[in-house]
Amino acid sequence: PLYTEAHRPQFHFSPTDNFMNDPNGLVYSQGLWHLFYQYNPTQLVAGNQHWGHAVSTDLYHWQNLPIAIAPEREGDGIFSGSAVLDVNNTSGLFEDSTPADSRFVAVYTLNTPTEQTQHLAYSSDGIHFTKLNQTLLTINSTQFRDPKVFWDEGQSQWVMTVAHPQEYAVTFYSSPNLKDWQELSRFRMTGLPGYQYECPDLVQIPIESGPDAGKRRWVLVNSINPGSPMGGSIVQYYIGDWDGRTFTADDAAFRYADFGKDYYAFQSWSNSPDGKAYGVAWASNWQYTQVVPTSPFRSFQSTPRELTLKYYRPNPMYGEYVLSSKPAMLDNIRAKTLYKLDADKHHQHAARANHTVALRGDGGFEIDATFVLPNDVNATYNTIGSFEILSSSGKQSITAGIQMGEPTVAFIDRSNAGRRWARTNPFFTDKSSGIVRYQSEYAPDQYILGPLPPSATAAEAAAAKEAGQQTISLKVLVDRSVLEAFANDGQLSGTSVFFFDNDEKPATVRVSIGDDKLRLGSLVVRQLKSTWP
Ligand code: FRU
Repeated sequence: PLYTEAHRPQFHFSPTDNFMNDPNGLVYSQGLWHLFYQYNPTQLVAGNQHWGHAVSTDLYHWQNLPIAIAPEREGDGIFSGSAVLDVNNTSGLFEDSTPADSRFVAVYTLNTPTEQTQHLAYSSDGIHFTKLNQTLLTINSTQFRDPKVFWDEGQSQWVMTVAHPQEYAVTFYSSPNLKDWQELSRFRMTGLPGYQYECPDLVQIPIESGPDAGKRRWVLVNSINPGSPMGGSIVQYYIGDWDGRTFTADDAAFRYADFGKDYYAFQSWSNSPDGKAYGVAWASNWQYTQVVPTSPFRSFQSTPRELTLKYYRPNPMYGEYVLSSKPAMLDNIRAKTLYKLDADKHHQHAARANHTVALRGDGGFEIDATFVLPNDVNATYNTIGSFEILSSSGKQSITAGIQMGEPTVAFIDRSNAGRRWARTNPFFTDKSSGIVRYQSEYAPDQYILGPLPPSATAAEAAAAKEAGQQTISLKVLVDRSVLEAFANDGQLSGTSVFFFDNDEKPATVRVSIGDDKLRLGSLVVRQLKSTWP
């Protein structure tokens, strides 16, 4: 039976069989979240790229649909791209009788042995697509791909971003009708170039906190591969302004969207139903994705995320905002609570103890804790609050935690997870981390090492001082072979795959606090439903 194989995630999307990579064509229409994806329907490795397709009413229960776009000729591939709803029929491709929110236009890269060009396919049911016999954009290059289209309200125009991977550039194009495109501007060499730029996405992100809460800012996201500081693939972003022609980044710093090794080719959903920003990334890394020990499928998508900008005290190194991501609409799959600790005066002892909880159930798990630490944390205070997820034999584990101190760092350690396989693959490195808090004013000026920033907002810092303590929260989602950690309500996220030897499953969580100055403010362990029939 499907979806019961070793390492198969139970609430993350994965294809029934064969190889999947980037999310494509993310668009919401008529109550359905559409997820198209890079798919090789004939092999367990990349190649022969098609657009696979699935839809969901709640972002977690997915219905598989037939392949949406397939190449015409052997050796060609349908590479990454995006989808929009042409509600006003600007393209003239739809009948008047087709409902406005059923006018799907997908824009993708046709990859041939000699060229990469941009093309369009349309559909009036979101399932069956017809290719338009016209090349939208060509520059006679084999390095020109991943078109992402959005409707630019400000200028009443369609805008497309396309990557020139090895020139470390993104070009912005505009169109009145999705068919005729004109170059507007080019964005180059900002942040970390890596070896190539892929999958650009310009998106407006709601500001969650600070003086401008409720407003939005423009964020340009792009993927780099290889060239991540952690090795292989990574998603970076720039915060800035879009004036209808040009994107201007606030600064040239390198900021990454997730500190784990398995978060790539992020894309945002078009036409989000509530105006919030949602997206998903491929939970893998090109360094080892084609050899990971799963079968008959390879790869899964991350948990769908809601994105916001959180405000921090302005600082020359960090700027004002950090792009945060947290799991979207988790209520849709929350099941039984397995353990709950509310630290009040009756529980002072429990708040200072370690806790071991059995992860009973066939789905995934959500573990939430707040760690309460003294206000005078400094570089010499080095205490860890962590969740160790143990396999059924108790011999293997993966750990996510917070290392308190200056800086305070969130980390994932998979050095004791699936050693047999990991030992044979030098790229399957075991530790990754990002900075949660940094009290010092010292900062190297160019690079930002995490998605991270400094201390708290001024208000939070004042409140912590008053209370004589500060709190850091950690949420971990674990689903067979993928772990996602979220510090401080999404301020920082880390996504990491792992493969326990002997097909063991996660079975227990051990929540530890490193010393007696640290205590648990709360701890909740919940089941997340298995979403496959
Ligand atoms: C990113 C990527 C894209 C390309 C696709 C091919 O992972 O390399 O640039 O369109 O994958 O499958």
